[in-house]
Amino acid sequence: MAELAVDIALTVNGEPVAERVDARKTLVDFLREDLGLTGSHVGCEHGVCGACTVRVDGAIVRGCLMLAAQCDGAQVETIEGLSDAGEIADLQAAFAQRNALQCGYCTPGMLVAAQDLLLHAKNSGGVPSREQIREHLSGNYCRCTGYHAIVDAVEAVARARAGEKK
Ligand code: FES
Ligand code: FES
Repeated sequence: MAELAVDIALTVNGEPVAERVDARKTLVDFLREDLGLTGSHVGCEHGVCGACTVRVDGAIVRGCLMLAAQCDGAQVETIEGLSDAGEIADLQAAFAQRNALQCGYCTPGMLVAAQDLLLHAKNSGGVPSREQIREHLSGNYCRCTGYHAIVDAVEAVARARAGEKK
């Protein structure tokens, strides 16, 4: 079957990108294969594990459930962009300090999802409860840590950002 290609123009981590892509190519495959942004991982490929989580126009999405062609005109941000901008430096440090990662496969998606929660919590003026942290990260699977250390790390950063002592 002939491949249907489409031209897309978008912004990725603040840089303009214009590419011709297979109309069936997912966003995460586009980021990894065409742009070399391999921080977003591919696990289940059907929207369950959260390893592919990225931000599109400010909202977190599953990169395996969105087509690259759907991102024409969008602002896409990946773990590389958030990391390079220093936006999640405190989260990354807390994950390292509290052993919230082992193999690291889930970590990029987990960090993007955690940052989303913390941004929303900040806007609503509060520190999320451990239950709220667990709920928000429930779509991000980790096969190594048992989740406690991840919740500890996110809670510590939430408190620190709110000006509370750890
Ligand atoms: S690879 Fe996208 S949710 Fe698992
Ligand atoms: S650290 Fe291995 S899957 Fe989470």
